[in-house]
Amino acid sequence: MGGAARAARKRHGVVMGKWTGKKVAVLYGGRSAEREVSLNTGKACAEALRQKGYDAVLVDVGLDVAERLRAEGVAVAFNALHGRWGEDGSIQGLLESMGIPYTGSGVLASALGMDKPFSKLLFRDAGLKVVEYRVFSHTRAASVTARDLPFAFPVVVKPGNEGSSVGVHIVREAGQLTVALQDAASFHGEVIVEKYVRGKEVQVAVLEGKALGAIEVVPSREFYDYTAKYTPGTTEYFYPARLPRAHYARVCEAGEIAHRALGCDGVTRNDFIVTEDGTPYILEVNTLPGFTSTSLVPKIAAGNGMPFPDLCERLLEGASLKA
Ligand SMILES: Nc1ncnc2c1ncn2[C@@H]1O[C@H](COP(=O)(O)OP(=O)(O)O)[C@@H](O)[C@H]1O
Ligand SMILES: [Mg+2]
Repeated sequence: MGGAARAARKRHGVVMGKWTGKKVAVLYGGRSAEREVSLNTGKACAEALRQKGYDAVLVDVGLDVAERLRAEGVAVAFNALHGRWGEDGSIQGLLESMGIPYTGSGVLASALGMDKPFSKLLFRDAGLKVVEYRVFSHTRAASVTARDLPFAFPVVVKPGNEGSSVGVHIVREAGQLTVALQDAASFHGEVIVEKYVRGKEVQVAVLEGKALGAIEVVPSREFYDYTAKYTPGTTEYFYPARLPRAHYARVCEAGEIAHRALGCDGVTRNDFIVTEDGTPYILEVNTLPGFTSTSLVPKIAAGNGMPFPDLCERLLEGASLKA
């Protein structure tokens, strides 16, 4: 560890960690539709880790990532990618093959978390409430009509393997269906059409299997779309979520069940819609949730007395090979 790093650790009163003095690669950027989000996540995490005294280097993940990791002499990878190739098990498989320990979920849990049709099957198997849905192949999607759906409008159309609400549409009537399906089908993978659920949007952070808490999201837009997620001032957040105590406990427990159902590690953000009667409908598990200091999981952690740099350090300390 360099002198500056040692001084920083001393200033922040940090005990020597497992990766102190080793080269930590913060993997960020990448080639997915969520590249921009990951650029922010990566910078915030690298900064936090440096504050904690770690030797963190940012690695923008391109096709040459294996060479870069070897050239940098990386001991451990902190995964700050989002979306395809970063969140779906691909980079996890590469890191396993290279023998580089990494933060977060392993190959299988990552692949499952990214795949909404697959994860829904596991959620249901684990006893969670899943909204009624249909899955259509990429090629079939554009020709689907209202008659193919066993439930009424409004419905939600979404790509099976994206994130950040990319390609997600709320469709209120049959006439809008085709355009939404075509857009969702322009992304990789299958297309999901599901029943629209009215309720509170609640997201549960789970760290190493235990729920940290649940935050409520109130977008001023029609739903929690890309703009609502990333433009400051377009969404209100309430932590803890404004739910009766029993409903709050129920959604937190459902978050832990979802995290476990996919076999996740590290931290996850588990997205729900909680109906008036307190039923938590699981939408998805995010194995690499947004991770700037103002993102939801860090907000929840901070609300639990764990500031952002401590959260990053905790994740780094949990880095491992899982295969
Ligand atoms: N079945 C649904 N009913 C109501 N709103 C939904 C439903 N599915 C998704 N949404 C809205 O769309 C947003 C994004 O959907 P989600 O399934 O979480 O995909 P993403 O992986 O893109 O975040 C949710 O945060 C919510 O606002
Ligand atoms: Mg979501």
